[in-house]
Amino acid sequence: MTDDAVRAQYEAYPYPSRDPADESKRLVEGSPSHIHELNHYVFGGRRDWRKPFRALVAGGGTGDGAIMLAQHLADAECPAEVIYLDLSDAARDIARARAEARGLANIAFHSLSLLDLPAADLGTFDYVDCCGVLHHLEDPAAGLKALAGVLAPDGGMGLMVYGELGRTGVYDVQAMLRTLASDDPPAGQAPGEQVVLAKRLLRQLPATNRFKRNSLVGDHLDGGDAGLYDLLLHSRDRTYRVAEIAALASSAGLRVTAFIEPARYDAASYINDRRILERLAGLSWLERAAFAELLAGNMRKHVFYAVKKANRGPVVADAGDPGAIPRLRVGDGQTLAATLKPGQTLTATVDGVTLRFPLPPLASAMIARMDGQRTLGAIHGELVGIDPGLDWDAFKKQFDSLYGALAGTGQLYLSFPPPR
Ligand SMILES: C[S@@+](CC[C@H](N)C(=O)[O-])C[C@H]1O[C@@H](n2cnc3c(N)ncnc32)[C@H](O)[C@@H]1O
Repeated sequence: MTDDAVRAQYEAYPYPSRDPADESKRLVEGSPSHIHELNHYVFGGRRDWRKPFRALVAGGGTGDGAIMLAQHLADAECPAEVIYLDLSDAARDIARARAEARGLANIAFHSLSLLDLPAADLGTFDYVDCCGVLHHLEDPAAGLKALAGVLAPDGGMGLMVYGELGRTGVYDVQAMLRTLASDDPPAGQAPGEQVVLAKRLLRQLPATNRFKRNSLVGDHLDGGDAGLYDLLLHSRDRTYRVAEIAALASSAGLRVTAFIEPARYDAASYINDRRILERLAGLSWLERAAFAELLAGNMRKHVFYAVKKANRGPVVADAGDPGAIPRLRVGDGQTLAATLKPGQTLTATVDGVTLRFPLPPLASAMIARMDGQRTLGAIHGELVGIDPGLDWDAFKKQFDSLYGALAGTGQLYLSFPPPR
């Protein structure tokens, strides 16, 4: 397995498959690196977007993360610079065409290995995105160290690596395909025969095959040949569990601030046995997250945020601060509130499991006031006008429950008004 094989794959199959013409129809948004999400989980919600912001998107592929971030920063009128880098020229060309289609002038494109960052003289970054890349490196720890080396002391990172449990069966099929056609495709030549063999094998898998039984993985069905190749024919990939991610981050001088979506990493989202939950309460948050990973058994990837260990500044936004401004990720509060009935339970289905969150009585009244402007203190003040007995503690108890449901499922973030 060589870097050349990885590069050849992404030259032949730039990932993910994207058509720049689609930029006029929609913006692909996801995690990590949604501007409100990264602000919440690495800058304590206190990033002032009027100030210059430098972001690195390492292994940017066909551009999903770089385009989303650059568009969000442009919308926020932030004087920002997004540096995209990737090994694959084919992927870079698609990413650049997408930026041009959107008229984005805040991205610079580089053909470079992230391992060469120390010598590349690109400066330091407030934020580094590295999504779906480290697990393809021969030495992921060396890759993360190279990224940490260009991160500003108070900066943050958004990362994604494969999860072990949700990818059950993937490596069985990879091994079979290596048995059938083990040669790396010559550099620059489309590895078409391997794709043909993979499709033929998939059609014949018996019902007992572990990949066949894993309904969570669908990249080979909806991602075209690039998706199929990435999933089943990759020359090099590995998976991680929660504890391994914490160790990987630590080896690069980083600490994990959050896994996305947070509720998925909380056993209480899946079970309600008080005796079991009381035992878990004594563990560290990372130990609890590792337990939830085993309990759910469905995590195909781990999206997480990290900062330097020495960064003690506010990194995760404080939901107890009356000055915090709650903001929905999608849509406006009034519209969502109008769909909620008293006593309703919020449900979210992720990777085959449905999570249920009973909403507090004031959920609708609170959500209706989430407009990205009002602070929690202001919302409390308005609700006191309706119910004079609602003191801050009673309000906060209900908000905490709503926050657990909405922030826990990636639908709500907090930020703070910039200083005047
Ligand atoms: C699975 S794709 C992910 C693309 C993108 N980050 C996303 O999430 O859509 C992995 C990308 O990492 C790039 N890559 C792999 N090793 C790299 C390295 N050492 N330096 C820079 N890019 C690399 C590949 O060329 C490929 O475009």
